[in-house]
Amino acid sequence: DWTMGAYREEAIRQIREQVGSEKVICGLSGGVDSSVAAVLIHEAIGDQLTCVFVDTGMMRQGEAEEVVTLFRDHYNIPLIHADEADLFLDALDGVTDPEQKRKTIGKLFIDVFEKHAKSVGGAKFLAQGTLYPDVIESVSFTGGPSVTIKSHHNVGGLPERMDLALVEPLRELFKDEVRALGRELGLPEQFVGRHPFPGPGLAIRCPGEITRDKLAILRKADAVYLDQIRKHGLYDEIWQAFAVLLPVRTVGVMGDGRTYDYVCALRAVTSVDGMTADYYPFSHEFLGETATRIINEVDGINRVTYDITSKPPGTIEWE
Ligand code: XMP
Repeated sequence: DWTMGAYREEAIRQIREQVGSEKVICGLSGGVDSSVAAVLIHEAIGDQLTCVFVDTGMMRQGEAEEVVTLFRDHYNIPLIHADEADLFLDALDGVTDPEQKRKTIGKLFIDVFEKHAKSVGGAKFLAQGTLYPDVIESVSFTGGPSVTIKSHHNVGGLPERMDLALVEPLRELFKDEVRALGRELGLPEQFVGRHPFPGPGLAIRCPGEITRDKLAILRKADAVYLDQIRKHGLYDEIWQAFAVLLPVRTVGVMGDGRTYDYVCALRAVTSVDGMTADYYPFSHEFLGETATRIINEVDGINRVTYDITSKPPGTIEWE
């Protein structure tokens, strides 16, 4: 793709100009955006870059392993795997407000990045895979009164005081352009085609209070759901699909006993840029089979619903 070839060259030039001979740390989330940003920056400045993958305790099943393998073994980009689950989960104890969750998580991310900026010998820059839609949706809409839809943790959720300067080479791009750039950079297709995953992770898919037990239940349900989607060959038709664990328990019957367990909502949407979205029209067979599997395979869930809200008026995530 000639446009992306040119973009790549120009971005590399700008990164070199911005950071000079300083060290950079790049927050890797496991998603396409931060992976593409990391590979691009590595191409520009080589070992001045160290990636930091922060395991917040709110990642999906298998996520940490996949990211670490790709970056250590496939790319040979220096990577710190920061296991900070206790730090994040303790700070979120009792936090139920969605914006408060993002603010708490955003601040801790920065604390962890600043700690590792020191540990690599004084990095001055923090690189992030911020995209154009993240910028628009976090900042206010022009023209009317200032309205923040969601403070994406990597934009509006950043603390006001931060010692690191930002490097955001994807800030002008939309998702499909980032994917094209990822292909241009030779990222494996299975990574380029990954569904987006929000920085705050499963925190915003656990409405209400977040507990380790709820996260464990959600992680299993989400894994079964994605397994179903892959098995039916639907993964690439969908922009994003995930399970949400509702803070509600309902009565059910299993064998000859009564159950009283959580409700799981399934979400799947099609979209071009994440700014608007339609719910995915799964067949009834698919939905029925998936509900049965989740209830049979995941302890703690006895009811499954499918979210048929489009964006707008809904957002893609529930929080
Ligand atoms: P919404 O829910 O706002 O989501 O319709 C649009 C896209 O953005 C992702 N998202 C986030 N990504 N930090 C992120 O890095 C966040 O705080 C955040 N909130 C939403 C969401 O997964 C979807 O792809």
